[in-house]
Amino acid sequence: MQAKTNQLLYLSQADVANVGVTMAEIIASMQVMFQAKGDGRTEMPPKPGIHPGGGDSFLHAMPACITDLKSAGIKWVGAFPANPAKGLPYISGLVIYNDFETGLPLAVMDCVWITAKRTGAASAISARHLARAESSVLGVLGCGVQGRSHAEAMKELFPLQKMMAYDLNEDAKIKFAAEISRKFDLEVVPVKSPREAVSGCDIVVTAGPMSKTPHATIQAGWLEAGAFASLVDYDAYWQPAAMHEADKFCTDDRAQFQATRQGGYFPDIPDIHADLGELATGKKPGRETPAERTMTANLGLALNDMAVAPLIYRKAKEKGIGTWLEL
Ligand SMILES: NC(=O)c1ccc[n+]([C@@H]2O[C@H](COP(=O)([O-])OP(=O)(O)OC[C@H]3O[C@@H](n4cnc5c(N)ncnc54)[C@H](O)[C@@H]3O)[C@@H](O)[C@H]2O)c1
Repeated sequence: MQAKTNQLLYLSQADVANVGVTMAEIIASMQVMFQAKGDGRTEMPPKPGIHPGGGDSFLHAMPACITDLKSAGIKWVGAFPANPAKGLPYISGLVIYNDFETGLPLAVMDCVWITAKRTGAASAISARHLARAESSVLGVLGCGVQGRSHAEAMKELFPLQKMMAYDLNEDAKIKFAAEISRKFDLEVVPVKSPREAVSGCDIVVTAGPMSKTPHATIQAGWLEAGAFASLVDYDAYWQPAAMHEADKFCTDDRAQFQATRQGGYFPDIPDIHADLGELATGKKPGRETPAERTMTANLGLALNDMAVAPLIYRKAKEKGIGTWLEL
């Protein structure tokens, strides 16, 4: 199927998932993007947001362009924490993918699958720089969409043998453990307390709900020497003293991190050691000793989405997936 003048390709949630882009392809494309970002060949203004619905809900506009991938576009994404109780998805939204040379819209695609996969991939790329290469035990707190995507992405880059899974919801935890052990041939242990998914683990992922008033369950002394943690739900899970134990505290983008702090998150954290562009280009060192505790708080970049959108667009055209719409 060829792109047609004055038409764009619409890809539904099912279309995007059915295109068959792999986690390995996503990680590879995002690694190229983070190197380009570190060398200044990307553009991404900090994301503006609006806050209908109250509480911790938001809609963010996330534009970005990546010269090396000839990718340009925007994600318009909502996160409404009260939705699951209404039987509605927590995260929803659309990506518009534009032609790099002409700016014309090439595609509109659902963003849920992309958001899930690219967030796990970003943590895995952080881990490639910050975790011990032989990391084999993964702890996941929050057995939802991100828990799943992080298990898949970490399995792609590390010789994982065992996973400790914790969730407040007992059913979610049991279902997750059965699904992940079957899918990735891993021993998955559903654990009773959050501490069991932190202490003893080489890599820890916290992926519960984020909130401006953190529950801050994880205490200093829980994260092992030599471990790496990815704070997918911002600082919701971590006491300030536990974050201050990090020898290297990183993020995905310094400017966005600053903007997020001004919005009230991360009031008490260590200095930022590096962002992912600096790590990917080697401008800042990643892990230097086996005993360091390392952490990243990746906020989720428009660049991530724009590193994945061209993969989906190209494969969808090759496979004849999607619906052409008149501009
Ligand atoms: N940083 C990023 O780039 C990025 C991108 C997408 C999502 N997120 C964040 O990741 C988090 C998870 O998102 P998701 O889409 O997987 O949500 P989800 O609703 O699919 O899963 C969340 C899970 O956490 C569980 N949970 C609730 N409170 C908990 C607690 N205190 N301890 C352990 N588990 C708990 C829920 O039962 C649920 O199973 C959210 O905070 C979301 O905002 C971050």
